[in-house]
Amino acid sequence: MNNQKWALITGASAGIGAEFARQLAAKGWSLLLVARRTDKLTALQTEVTNHNQVECQILAVDLAEVNANQLVFNYCHEQKINISMLVNNAGYGVPGDFDAVDWTTHQAMLQVMLISLVELSHLFYPNMKKEKQGFIINVASLAGLTPPTAGHTLYGALKSFVIKFSHSLHLEAKEHGVHVSALCPGFTYTEFHDVNGTRSMVSQMSKKLWMTASDVVSQGIQAVEKNQAVYINGRRNRMIAGLCKYLPEGVVRFLMKGSVAKFRKR
Ligand SMILES: NC(=O)c1ccc[n+]([C@@H]2O[C@H](COP(=O)([O-])OP(=O)(O)OC[C@H]3O[C@@H](n4cnc5c(N)ncnc54)[C@H](OP(=O)(O)O)[C@@H]3O)[C@@H](O)[C@H]2O)c1
Repeated sequence: MNNQKWALITGASAGIGAEFARQLAAKGWSLLLVARRTDKLTALQTEVTNHNQVECQILAVDLAEVNANQLVFNYCHEQKINISMLVNNAGYGVPGDFDAVDWTTHQAMLQVMLISLVELSHLFYPNMKKEKQGFIINVASLAGLTPPTAGHTLYGALKSFVIKFSHSLHLEAKEHGVHVSALCPGFTYTEFHDVNGTRSMVSQMSKKLWMTASDVVSQGIQAVEKNQAVYINGRRNRMIAGLCKYLPEGVVRFLMKGSVAKFRKR
């Protein structure tokens, strides 16, 4: 198995992460799947190994724990798993105003969606650079490119950070043969809105604004293969991001009043 190439996917037990697992396995990648729910990871492990000639290992880890990233890295070292693709995908939304959410919840969100993503990149990138090949996909969001909203206070800010961090790393890494992309999906059918309790609100939105995880992921894989720094999924989402970039913020904010901002739970 000398040609075996390994991808590490965080948040692989559901939604976009699980779809990355399916599509990368179909492309011949062996997988290390990370999330908290062992039952979901085990079911996905069975599914991908039944359908593909690849190895798949699972690691039940809570990325909100401060030592979790080092633990994942040590596991790879002990198992001689050489990670050539890192998909930093784990994430969730927290509804409510800033002061209505307790600090422990904010801290866990910062740990999972900011520290973990940066620390795993910091742990695995040096070897990719040494080998002059590798891929890092950081799952951001269209929310990182649109004006801020009241409620879900940290979410857009975190996703803006992910986009800017990924773009900087992309610029550094490209001269070393390592591809880094920020993937920016808009509304995507996954467990995301069930977990944060906004399903009934967001299901009132036009179906035209929604994409499948399958489309988001296949476009994301293509984007990192082409080494695109920032990839926005879907024509409509690209149009929204374009309007946000070029129209005055006041105008965009006015337009958003009747759309996305209306569906933020406070
Ligand atoms: N769905 C959308 O509309 C949308 C739009 C734009 C961006 N995104 C982004 O896409 C990414 C994936 O979200 P999704 O839509 O696929 O949501 P999802 O279906 O709810 O999946 C989220 C994944 O993150 C994992 N996760 C959450 N907390 C974790 C923790 N503390 N430690 C380890 N794993 C954790 C979950 O696994 P466990 O619960 O098993 O730990 C699950 O596998 C997120 O970064 C999200 O912000 C989603």
